[in-house]
Amino acid sequence: MIDLRSDTVTKPTAEMRRAMAEAEVGDDVYGEDPTVNLLQEKAAEVFGKEAALFVPTGSMGNQIAVKLHTKPGDEVIIEERGHIFNYEMGTPAVVAGVMIRPVRAANDNGMLTWAEIESALHIDQPYYACPTGLICLENTSNFGGGSVMSAEQTDEICENAHKLKLPVHLDGARIFNSAVAQNETVANLSKSVDSVQFCLSKGLGAPVGSMLLGKKDFIAEAKVWRKRFGGGMRQVGILAAAGIVALEESPKRLHIDHENAKRLAEGVANLKGISIDAERVQTNIVIFDVSETGKNSVQIVEELKKEHIFAIPFGNAIRMVTHCDVSSDDIEKTLTVLDKIIQA
Ligand SMILES: Cc1ncc(COP(=O)(O)O)c(C=O)c1O
Repeated sequence: MIDLRSDTVTKPTAEMRRAMAEAEVGDDVYGEDPTVNLLQEKAAEVFGKEAALFVPTGSMGNQIAVKLHTKPGDEVIIEERGHIFNYEMGTPAVVAGVMIRPVRAANDNGMLTWAEIESALHIDQPYYACPTGLICLENTSNFGGGSVMSAEQTDEICENAHKLKLPVHLDGARIFNSAVAQNETVANLSKSVDSVQFCLSKGLGAPVGSMLLGKKDFIAEAKVWRKRFGGGMRQVGILAAAGIVALEESPKRLHIDHENAKRLAEGVANLKGISIDAERVQTNIVIFDVSETGKNSVQIVEELKKEHIFAIPFGNAIRMVTHCDVSSDDIEKTLTVLDKIIQA
């Protein structure tokens, strides 16, 4: 089976399983789990932030941030394809009581410029507009095709937002992919944002978990909201142990996933009826349009499944994501099978 649906499907490595078996644990609701505490300290150090909180999912990390940065009735600006807007079950409305103001980036990579954000702001418009309370960024942009935002782009947005006293939250679910692709540090990519969430359980390969980072007071309040969300976990050092391995070891091998994604993109670009600009594939996500193949994306994905290859269809496109459980041979096999399906 070649599972290219997402990098969330990865299985923990032998080293992670060993660390989990041997983890020292305590009650984390009391702050007494030494392995969780160690993971939080290490993550804060790697990101150069004051504090970090281990949360069960990226969605919870993002939604705690949305809740803490806003008040009910505020508006949150986010690029139209953003995960927080599309795939987190309307939680900003349900929990934070805020409106989302989705803004389409002119650039197909899903990255908003400050000029685009500025044109959607509601500042000092009392009595008729919801005030802007927060800006959310996503690096890499999942549905922007794994595209990366540079430290300079992020800093420019934050500098301007902060002048208006607006906080910025970064959904950095795949920020390590972004850092590796740009030969950057995650600390530099997130230094100017007020909070950042990253996933241990995607490209980094841990079975469960994400980290939310920010200032000490923010993280102390985030801990309260984690409990309210039902995320106060007990001897969760078992999971944090895998997270420590993920944080320390996995970034070293992400370039392999990027090479595989590039090869996949270049390969599909040569197949009849498929369109993709392979040059634009920077990390581990490959999205290609199949409208000219004579088959729709659902049909192609169904045919792939019969050959034990899994991908995600959406609209006229198919998304494939490389990760630690996908080899270069798997990529060659996928290309051969895809060619056969399209030619049939
Ligand atoms: C960009 C982005 N942000 C956040 C998440 C949410 O992570 P989780 O599935 O752990 O809630 C995902 C998951 O795919 C994602 O792709």
